This record gives sequence, structure tokens and C-alpha cells, in this order.
Amino acid sequence: MLMKANSAAVGDCTAVIGTQWGDEGKGKIIDMLAAEYDVIARACGGANAGHTIVVAGKKHVFRLLPSGCLHEHAQIVLGSGMVIHLPTLIEEIDLLRQAGIDIVPRLKISHEAHILFDFHKLLDGANEDHRAKTGKGIGTTRRGIGPAYCDKAARIGIRMERISENLAEDLSARKDTLQRAYGITIDVDAECRCIEESAKIVASSVTDTVAFLSAMRSSRKHILIEGAQATLLDIDHGTYPYVTSSSTTVAGALQGLGLPPQCIGEVIGVAKAYCTRVGAGDFLTEVQGETGERLRERGGEYGSVTKRPRRCGWLFLPDLQRSAMINGCTCLNITKLDVLDTEEVIRIGVGESQGKAVYKDFAGWMCSTAGVASYERLPKNAQVLIECIEMETGVPIRYIGTGQGRGEMIIR
Ligand code: GDP
Ligand code: IMO
Ligand code: MG
Repeated sequence: MLMKANSAAVGDCTAVIGTQWGDEGKGKIIDMLAAEYDVIARACGGANAGHTIVVAGKKHVFRLLPSGCLHEHAQIVLGSGMVIHLPTLIEEIDLLRQAGIDIVPRLKISHEAHILFDFHKLLDGANEDHRAKTGKGIGTTRRGIGPAYCDKAARIGIRMERISENLAEDLSARKDTLQRAYGITIDVDAECRCIEESAKIVASSVTDTVAFLSAMRSSRKHILIEGAQATLLDIDHGTYPYVTSSSTTVAGALQGLGLPPQCIGEVIGVAKAYCTRVGAGDFLTEVQGETGERLRERGGEYGSVTKRPRRCGWLFLPDLQRSAMINGCTCLNITKLDVLDTEEVIRIGVGESQGKAVYKDFAGWMCSTAGVASYERLPKNAQVLIECIEMETGVPIRYIGTGQGRGEMIIR
């Protein structure tokens, strides 16, 4: 039977997209909004993502599963654009089970998503070590992302639809080349055992998620798209080559889920009130020394995946404007305002001159905004900062984060 296209209301999907170099706090707003959505979907990337949420003082980190998982009514989708490391997925499923949540019955994994094998991780590490020797390391998460997308583009990847097959022959065919070119040994037996074990748990979840999402839209269900990574890490629009290997924008998310462009209603761009970056690459407003360390400590800026200290610096408006432009952000979520509570002077990069950032300086508020949940209760100087970002980007700031916890968010 032919499915009726475009039968759902236009604009019934909301996307949450990072506007900087990742770790903006996408997980937190997803967790907050998820209560109102029927489906939460991840589109691209893999276990390079680390989305942290704190609920009732307990920390949960999501890598492959979306951060909306704790809401037990929601259907969960891992889209076609993803590269899935099955042992990590099984570990996440187990962790949720320990927290009393059985995600499998409401988990849908695209049959078109690619399997990320352990040998992809080995290859990522070997590439990274090689580049580091020549001073050109990207500082990847070593989670195998680049090599898995390489295989996909070279059309030698293995998709989730084959999870229940014996893959020994396909893996053996790669063995010699990888051994000769990189000195990497694929443990075919171990990889096969691992897929077989994983299949016992998730094979029943592998399905046509494009048809599923379309059916959800037809029955007027609401879909929340959880972006991973962020716009400045996008393979096309980011700070190439210091980027990830997927399309991290809203367009990439639609492609990764097989959703049509007109389904998008809201695009929530997420930006820290300052800025961080993990890994190598230009960071014009990076701040070294005491201020950088204070931001890192106050913001807990250590990678949730790799535990690496994140590089810290100031918000750079031209980047935010460009991200808002690329994604068509309909509103912004400025996160971690509370981290700036102790800054006497808060800087915002407004441009560049001779390779250096040009700043506008703002007087800090020097009092606690932690947990503040109404805009009127923010100190005047914090309101001035927010309103300047809003004016310069032309995008309304609808959400302002003031802490890690669920309620610690101003909604305007
Ligand atoms: P994501 O990858 O974009 O989901 O972000 P991460 O989870 O990697 O990093 C964001 C970190 O900031 C997490 O530890 C969050 O709990 C924390 N966080 C998010 N919003 C806020 C906020 O408004 N204030 C503070 N202090 N922490 C926040
Ligand atoms: P979330 O979803 C921050 C960075 C890595 C590295 C570059 C390439 O938590 O915001 P990769 O392993 O993808 O090949 O690494 O991209 N990176 C992230 N940085 N947050 C992320 O995800 C990231 N995912 C990848 O640090 O610089
Ligand atoms: Mg993160």
C-alpha cells in the first residue's frame, strides 16, 4: 500500500541543535522538553556524543540513546544517519535497566544505520596517533566515527539490517588490507560473537524508521529531534578538518531521519553563555590562564565521553549568527549562565581583526543565578547580556539555563 506523503501537519517536529563545538547542554533541554513529545529521535553520529542530564541529583550520560529516554511514554528512534557501536548500545540499555527502565520495547533502530565495529575504533586510534606524530592530530574521541563513515561513503559498510547474519566473510575480507595498511588486526571471531550477542537483545528493534516516523506524523504525534555534536563540527559547515564526520545541522538531522524539510516547526539552537571546545582546531576566543581554568572548574568542563579537559573561552557572536543562519534557528537556549556568576567582566567576541578576536565587555553581576527560574529574577547585568545576544543574532532567547537540574531553566 502506498503511504500518503505530507499527511501530517506542517511543522510538527522540533529540532534541538548545537550551535558551537558541542557540549552546549543539548541533553538537558531535550530531557526537559521530552515530556511533551511522543517520539525522541537521534539522527547522526555515534558514541562520540555524550549528553548529560541530572535528575533528582543523579547523573545520566547518553551516548547513542537520546536523552529523552527517561520519559517512559516516549518512542525512541536511532536514525539511518547513525553509526552504532553495539556493545556501547547494550551497555546503555543495561544501565537504564538498572535504573528501572526497559527501553527495548519502545526502541526503533533504523535498518539503514551502519554498524560501527571495534576495528573502526582501532583504526580511529591509529589514524589519530599517526596524525599526532606530525602535529596534525584532530583530537577525535577515538570512538571509530571517521572510519565508520569512511566505510559508509566507500559503500563497504555493514548496515543494521544484517545484524542477524553471519558477518565473518565480510569482516575477513577486510582483514588483510587493514593488517597491511595499518597493522591493525580484526578479531573476526570476537566481532561476530559480539554482534550475535547484541542481536539477541536488539534485533527485534531494527526496523524501517522512516516509515515509522512518517506513520507517527500521520497520526499527529510530535517528534523531538536530538541533534548530536554541533554546527561548528559539521563536516561541511564546520571548522574543517577539525570536525566530526557527519552532518550535524538541522538539514543533516532531517537527512539522517528521512524526514521532509517542511516537517520542521521549531529549531532550538543551543549555545553556552561562553564557549568550549574539545580536540584541536582554531578557537579565536579561547582564554588561557586563571579565567579559562575558572570557567572549566565552575562549568565542570571535562568531556563526558573522553574525560578530556575542555578548552574554554568566550562566546563568539559571528559563529552564533552563522549557526543560527545555517539552521534557521527559531529560538535559542543559552545555557550555563550561572557559570559566569563570579566573573567581574564578561566578554563576548563580536568580530575579528588581524587574526585576533574583537570583544565587547560587559559588567558581571557577581551574585548567584544558580537555579533561578524566572527572567525577572535575573540580575540586571545578566538581562543586559542576554538581550545583547538576542539583538545581535536576531533570534529570540526562549530558554536560559541556570544549573544542571531539570527545573533550573528560565522559559521566556
Ligand atoms: P551536550 O553534549 O550538548 O548534551 O552537553 P554535555 O552534557 O556534554 O555537557 C553539558 C554539561 O553542562 C552537562 O554536565 C550538563 O549537566 C551541564 N549543564 C547543562 N545546562 C547547564 C546549566 O544551565 N548550568 C550548569 N551549571 N550546567 C549545565
Ligand atoms: P556532543 O553530542 C564535543 C569532537 C571531538 C573532535 C572532533 C572529531 O556531546 O555535543 P570524532 O570522534 O567525532 O571523529 O571527533 O569532534 N566531538 C565532540 N566535541 N561534543 C561532542 O558531541 C563531540 N563529538 C565529536 O572532540 O574534536
Ligand atoms: Mg556532550
